[in-house]
Amino acid sequence: MIIGIFKICNQKTGLKYQDMNHVKEIVICLGSSCFARGNKKLLKTVQNYLKENHLEGKVIFKGNHCFGKCNKGSILKIDDNFYEQINELKLLEILKKELG
Ligand code: FES
Repeated sequence: MIIGIFKICNQKTGLKYQDMNHVKEIVICLGSSCFARGNKKLLKTVQNYLKENHLEGKVIFKGNHCFGKCNKGSILKIDDNFYEQINELKLLEILKKELG
């Protein structure tokens, strides 16, 4: 399943290697704990936000198995910033702050 998401993200962004140095990278934890704590739904929230704000070609969005912070899940990482215990409202605030 993870591999499929990576492929979809790469197909959606259409980004080439040289473009990746200039864009934000969002990594959502899709480990079992975070997935059960809400990242299954938040995955779609991020996808919708990127689509609605025309950011699909400007942001790398991918999944990760586990960040080793399961007790602080749900976890999302944008570039070097980790966000813990996120919910949908908190996620939207994070995306606005990070992406505009
Ligand atoms: S499952 Fe998300 S940090 Fe472990």
